[in-house]
Amino acid sequence: MKKIGVLTSGGDSPGMNAAIRAVVRKALFHDIEVSGIYHGYHGLMNGSIKPLTIGSVGDIIHRGGTMLGTARSEEFKTEAGQLKAIETLKSHGIEGLVVIGGDGSFRGAEKLSEKGIAAIGVPGTIDNDIPCTDFTIGFDTALNTVIEAVDKIRDTATSHERTFIIEVMGRDAGDLALWAGLADGAETILIPEADYSVDELLKTLKRGQERGKKHSIIVVAEGIGSAVELGNSIREKSGVECRVTVLGHIQRGGSPTAFDRVLASRLGAYAVECLLNGEKGKMVGLQNNQPVATPISEALNQKHTVDLSLYQLAKELSI
Ligand code: F6P
Repeated sequence: MKKIGVLTSGGDSPGMNAAIRAVVRKALFHDIEVSGIYHGYHGLMNGSIKPLTIGSVGDIIHRGGTMLGTARSEEFKTEAGQLKAIETLKSHGIEGLVVIGGDGSFRGAEKLSEKGIAAIGVPGTIDNDIPCTDFTIGFDTALNTVIEAVDKIRDTATSHERTFIIEVMGRDAGDLALWAGLADGAETILIPEADYSVDELLKTLKRGQERGKKHSIIVVAEGIGSAVELGNSIREKSGVECRVTVLGHIQRGGSPTAFDRVLASRLGAYAVECLLNGEKGKMVGLQNNQPVATPISEALNQKHTVDLSLYQLAKELSI
């Protein structure tokens, strides 16, 4: 293999830059040229490609976002879009591809591998919703961003003796809400993977008030529905006046944590090793602190699961 490409796709996540740097430097270490593909699969179909050198990826390991830009492409999901992408890759002499992104991006990598371009996926998403890896790149940074925000909200919640509902991202997965709620000692955590009822939630709030709690923090995953509607429902049923904060895209930005930088460096480099070993259509991940490669089809056939023992622990600790 003489030349590989790297792209980022889907929602950006902190640590993507560190992963790009690792791909480029590891490839150059093995005398393989690297092309940067800009704006995800959209850029791949339209030839938005430039060579990357050692210097191109200097001074980015600590930056959030992605220097390559990212996009979600409907056209690339079509056969015609994929053939267009293959043409671009061939015309640039790119024989292997590293795709940094989430499950949608991996499906694209699998299609390209089926059509003869070896592609390897690196899990980059704040949602931590990819099977076959213990963590995705960006999750830890987003988690720390959420915690910083909740700590600040806690100050005002205590001062005013208020109940706060804080909605966090995660798409259909509750990981971000669960870990943030546990790390923040939230009174209640609501995630799509566990049943809940507003009545049960009200009982928890009442129990807290009876033992002198002056404020309550409820962390909800966006996957359970609107936090604003939940606030309205609590207000109607109990008269409890709650404030709602939707954290939004602040969770996707910021300088990656040390954990995410190290994870990105390991997985980016490992993806290149996989290409050098002739692998294709695989995703890399970290399992028991070791990098592993799993066929994308196998990974995406599994349903991501949240660690419900953490949910139970959070419940027991917030009595
Ligand atoms: O997948 C990452 C993520 O930030 C999800 O947590 C969220 O549901 C979604 O992307 C938001 O997407 P967009 O940036 O397109 O609004």
